[in-house]
Amino acid sequence: STQNAVHGDLPTEILQALSVKEPLLSSEAFPSQKSADVKSALDRLGSRSMITYETIDREEAVLEPEALEIAANGSHEARVFEALRKAMDGLTIAELEAAVGDKNVAKLGQGKAFKSKWIAKGKEGRLVASTDSIQDITREQLLVIQKTHTHPDPNVIKDLKKRKLVKMQKVISFKIQKGPKFALEIVKEETDLTPEMLESGAWKTATFKKYNFKSLGVDQHAGALHPLNKVRHEFRQIFFEMGFEEMPTNRFVETGFWNFDALFVPQQHPARDLQDTFYISDPKTADKPHAESEDDKADYETYWKNVRDVHQEGKYGSIGYRYPWAEDESLRLVLRTHTTAISSAMLYKLAQLKGPDGKPPPARYFSIDRVFRNETVDATHLAEFHQVEGVIADYGLSLGGLMEFMEIFFNKMGIHDLRFKPAYNPYTEPSMEIFSYHKGLNKLVEIGNSGMFRPEMLEAMGLPKDLRVFGWGLSLERPTMIKYKVSITAKSPET
Ligand code: PHE
Repeated sequence: STQNAVHGDLPTEILQALSVKEPLLSSEAFPSQKSADVKSALDRLGSRSMITYETIDREEAVLEPEALEIAANGSHEARVFEALRKAMDGLTIAELEAAVGDKNVAKLGQGKAFKSKWIAKGKEGRLVASTDSIQDITREQLLVIQKTHTHPDPNVIKDLKKRKLVKMQKVISFKIQKGPKFALEIVKEETDLTPEMLESGAWKTATFKKYNFKSLGVDQHAGALHPLNKVRHEFRQIFFEMGFEEMPTNRFVETGFWNFDALFVPQQHPARDLQDTFYISDPKTADKPHAESEDDKADYETYWKNVRDVHQEGKYGSIGYRYPWAEDESLRLVLRTHTTAISSAMLYKLAQLKGPDGKPPPARYFSIDRVFRNETVDATHLAEFHQVEGVIADYGLSLGGLMEFMEIFFNKMGIHDLRFKPAYNPYTEPSMEIFSYHKGLNKLVEIGNSGMFRPEMLEAMGLPKDLRVFGWGLSLERPTMIKYKVSITAKSPET
């Protein structure tokens, strides 16, 4: 039967059916196949010129669920009549309902059966059949439609549609005819001309598949993550593995306050020059630091004064820089020059937290995002690059322990043999540049910068004296270039 034919057999079945009857109507030969399946089989045969076909759209009448029931068991009125005809002395209403087996059918059927004079009232309120036989026209009409999907009398379909027993349905069918290469079997078509076929001469008799210029190409699976994103992912995994929390990095524009002043970078520091930092021209300045949510109970006013004092007069045992600190300079908007701007804001947040002992709890933070510097762009200098930054705040941290930590951290990235070199940052003391021996280049390369944040920075925030904070930063670009062996050919003063 065509009903169970698997999709792959359909083309063969069509050929067989077509050899017996031509033209072949798909709706007759394969009534239960989906038209999409038939079409794809026909297209396959058509592309080999084995058949030709035309599509026929038409409407056909189909039975609604209630009509299917009537076609099977008879109309309601016929069922009522039938039940009464079988009973010798007629039936009470209750008996009739039981005999018909459906209360609703019995009720609806009575009315129509009375109207057609098939039944009448007998003695003692009983119902009786009033004729020997009836013609169940509705059922007969529905049976015709069920079989042929139409009816010779168009008024019948109109009437049944009105009674919601029949609906019209759009159907696509195909009128199929033999093509010039008609055969009962599908010959295997070659897709490639091979050296073997040339050698044996098989190419002379082989049938070749036609090019299908409409077919889609093979999916190329193109597209890949940028190397920077891959290395960023690796760093993030290491940070998470080591219990670090990611800092929010969505503030490319910062005030000089968070980017410099909070970090004890004096206002005359060369890093704050126009040549090194991008300043925003419109708007030029921002408001003083202030609470950004209702839960933020920090005393920004005191913090602001502490920062001014530590720069201007010195505080917390420091003699300060002793210059007139300018508010306006601190409020100037800059494109952040390092992600340490985020670390400073996060450490100020940490200063507001209270652990079980009433002191801020130890914390580990990291960030990986873009920073901006006013560089003349060349092969080794970009005005925009990425920084990886980590911060550890804990009680009783020692420099030796932190060198050990760096060793473990960079080992996880496959970077070994670290060397540390004393360095200077306004916000850390001591500061260390981190180097690693590069086998390919056969020399030590600088991979990062680090240090212990200064009390001038931390105590101004209100962090306790014995809370030590260590930070380090590196570019994302440098390790990525080393990892992917990106070499720079252009010479620049710093290579
Ligand atoms: N901010 C430093 C830089 O841009 C890196 C650094 C972060 C150094 C934290 C010390 C502490 O290179």
